[in-house]
Amino acid sequence: MTAQPTPQQIVEGQKQDWNRVAGGWEKWDRLFDEQMAFLNHRLVADARLHAGMNVLDLGSGTGYPALLGAQTVGATGSVVGMDLAEHMLAAAGRKAKRLGLTNVIFRTGDVTSLPFEPNSFDAVTSRFCLMFLPEIPKAASEIARVLKPGSWVAAAVWSAPEKNPSIGLSMAAIKQVIELPPPNPTAPGIFRLAKPGELAGLFQQAGLVDATDQEFLAEWFYASADEYYTSLMEIAAPVQNLMAKLTESQRQDVKQRIIQAASDYTRAGRIIFPMAVRIVTARKPV
Ligand SMILES: C[S@@+](CC[C@H](N)C(=O)[O-])C[C@H]1O[C@@H](n2cnc3c(N)ncnc32)[C@H](O)[C@@H]1O
Repeated sequence: MTAQPTPQQIVEGQKQDWNRVAGGWEKWDRLFDEQMAFLNHRLVADARLHAGMNVLDLGSGTGYPALLGAQTVGATGSVVGMDLAEHMLAAAGRKAKRLGLTNVIFRTGDVTSLPFEPNSFDAVTSRFCLMFLPEIPKAASEIARVLKPGSWVAAAVWSAPEKNPSIGLSMAAIKQVIELPPPNPTAPGIFRLAKPGELAGLFQQAGLVDATDQEFLAEWFYASADEYYTSLMEIAAPVQNLMAKLTESQRQDVKQRIIQAASDYTRAGRIIFPMAVRIVTARKPV
């Protein structure tokens, strides 16, 4: 039996993975920003952000939703964006500069253990980060600790793979070519928090109250199946890791399978995938 990696090893692997794809995230930023901006607005609204607040964004990557948070809280407020991957944060910092934002700082660190005093923040936001943590309950406790009484956390995580074919179909194509161990439902990964109520339950266990968990359905678009494949390979660290296990001819085989499967989603000359995201909120008791 192979030894399970320790939380520290998982976090170190995440850091390397996301640093490796940071260039891809910056390259494809416009496409993804256009497609995903609605989620930033949703999180900023659900965390009840307004002028003057001090906000913590967990796993900011290249700046989402930290940058919109900073615009929302304005000059009298501030945002701290944390992430493991310094290269992702460097891209976020460049965007903040271009936007003229001086009220947001980006700090490297593991969000499972937050370097802040209790009751420091008026809100916590997070988009597509929490499912990658090996110790989610610990992170939930940390969120509860640093929130001020009465303040909200709002987090976005991916919903079920069958509702997110743009992610699932690459995994399915790889599985057609090499045998992969059955997924461990408790291991960190894209769909680790897809189950309804899972993250809301962890927030409640951490002492937060009034938890809500809503599935948000949307669509995202690509100009072509080739554009989808190329961007996927350049930004999706977990998919890259699986592709690295293949021989060159297996990789070509998987590529054809992914492009073929993506083409099934052609509509009006574009590739249009359905998307399902869970938006989970909770607040610290007063
Ligand atoms: C899919 S990206 C999302 C980035 C951004 N929030 C967005 O939605 O565009 C996931 C991010 O979570 C970060 N991450 C993963 N595990 C983390 C941890 N333990 N502590 C801090 N950041 C982490 C990664 O470095 C990566 O930037």
